[in-house]
Amino acid sequence: MIFRGAVLLAGAFLLTSCMKTEPASSSTGPKTWGKTAEGENVNLYTLSNSKGMQATVTDYGARIVTLVVPDRNGTPGNVTLGFDSLDGYQKENPYFGAIVGRYGNRIAKGRFTLDGVEYKLAVNNGANSLHGGLKGFDKRVWTARQDRPDKLELTYVSRDGEEGYPGNMSTTVVYTMGDDNSLRIDYTITTDKATVHNVTNHAYFNLAGPGNGDVLGHRIMIAADRFTPVDAGLIPTGELKPVEGTPFDFRQPHAIGERIEAKDQQIEYGKGYDHNWVLNGEMGALRPAVKVSEPTTGRVMEVLTTEPGVQFYTGNFLDGTLTGSGGKAYKFRYGFCLETQHYPDSPNHPDFPTTVIKPGEKYRSATVYKFSTEAAK
Ligand code: GLA
Repeated sequence: MIFRGAVLLAGAFLLTSCMKTEPASSSTGPKTWGKTAEGENVNLYTLSNSKGMQATVTDYGARIVTLVVPDRNGTPGNVTLGFDSLDGYQKENPYFGAIVGRYGNRIAKGRFTLDGVEYKLAVNNGANSLHGGLKGFDKRVWTARQDRPDKLELTYVSRDGEEGYPGNMSTTVVYTMGDDNSLRIDYTITTDKATVHNVTNHAYFNLAGPGNGDVLGHRIMIAADRFTPVDAGLIPTGELKPVEGTPFDFRQPHAIGERIEAKDQQIEYGKGYDHNWVLNGEMGALRPAVKVSEPTTGRVMEVLTTEPGVQFYTGNFLDGTLTGSGGKAYKFRYGFCLETQHYPDSPNHPDFPTTVIKPGEKYRSATVYKFSTEAAK
């Protein structure tokens, strides 16, 4: 009797200890992916849902390396631009898959004033500071934690004075994959000194697959009545201009290529689309912002966000010099980005939604990329 009880107990113990020691992520990684030039270890993590959607993410820049979703025939395929190895990401590249920060997008002349103090940032885009400066969040190794196959948490603490910004600012990004074929990104930001922030993801999408032609045939809808026109350096003029009657009106779906060569000064400045749309609806509420569909594969991507704006960029600086996953060249307009964000240069536009964060505050934001398919028309 005592013996049997002991066996049962031992069995139960074994079972629970197995359940405890068997990490949920055992089959999913992380995998060692290499080292940075400074000798830091870089890993590659796999995320998956129960429907066959899969992503790989590296702690180098918290980058989405691949994102595999089914087409209308159920055939899985990658839909983001990137490289097969860490090497590609460490060389000059336009922020493929990366989390950009501390300030995604541009700050005019790399300067802003906060509480009477002028801060001078690293300038890396003509006269301006772009995507956090010379060594932004995209080039940092984040601290990653994965307890579940569908979730990955990454944290980066940017030091006081880094790239010219004040305050030790902590950013946590959580990627969560849903069984509705969604990839959700949650951002949490805190600081120990007043500073500015605009952290976003810079993934390049091609719903027909990276390297498989340009994105001009994709159809896109953006829920925005207004956009922020820019000067020749892509800095907002301050105006919130109605899209009505312009090539920026995507309130109804249009092919990306339909008006991308229009005789329009804004299009000329951007060499295509490289602008911030002022999203309709209430900032802070997770609401539908963008819908993109690709006719040949039937893939559809919807973007929901709590952010007030989205930068729609059509890969106008891609020129075929970079060779990506599977040995395919990334040519002119082979990918598009939807960077959910606060408006560019907000620190110099007091009437734009604020990007200031103070000690004791916790900034939270979320963006969801949701995939589905549609039948051939
Ligand atoms: C952003 C900018 C673009 C360009 C790309 C990277 O989307 O708005 O102008 O700098 O990043 O090449």
